[in-house]
Amino acid sequence: MFEAAPIRVADPSEFYEELARQLTGLLAGERDVIANAANTASLIFNNMAELNWAGFYFLRGDVLVLGPFQGKPACVRIPLGRGVCGAAAAKRQTLRVADVQFFPDHIACDSASRSELVIPLIRDGAVLGVLDLDSPCLDRFTAHDQAGLEGIAAQFVTASDPL
Ligand code: SME
Repeated sequence: MFEAAPIRVADPSEFYEELARQLTGLLAGERDVIANAANTASLIFNNMAELNWAGFYFLRGDVLVLGPFQGKPACVRIPLGRGVCGAAAAKRQTLRVADVQFFPDHIACDSASRSELVIPLIRDGAVLGVLDLDSPCLDRFTAHDQAGLEGIAAQFVTASDPL
């Protein structure tokens, strides 16, 4: 089996290239969406600093249901349109929230969370769910993180069969 090595790069712009390279190895030869989501969440959580949660919600009807993740136990069902996750899925756009206190509908699964990045998973125009990252630090996620993780999310969708 492919073994993910800790990512040590001096140049932050190389970080997402290396993360994508390791994800390619991790997902090679496997199309099960749960297995791939579990390994993707683990790769992200174990290689990015200052995260307290990284994982997936999958859309079932009009509700996002908790999928594989790393971090503390989280809310299981989020109606489409609710919270940062539900809003990102409904709008079909990435939401990068610098301070969750100022996102009126934020759902606090872990009171330690201060900033959040939610990327919708889209295949053939349909929303499959979201990739959600939480940080205990204010304004943790940069535009660079957003672009890098949108690439990771797209790679996960392409490599996995639908639920
Ligand atoms: N904070 C999210 C809920 C999911 S947890 O952070 C894991 C939201 O507002 O949608």
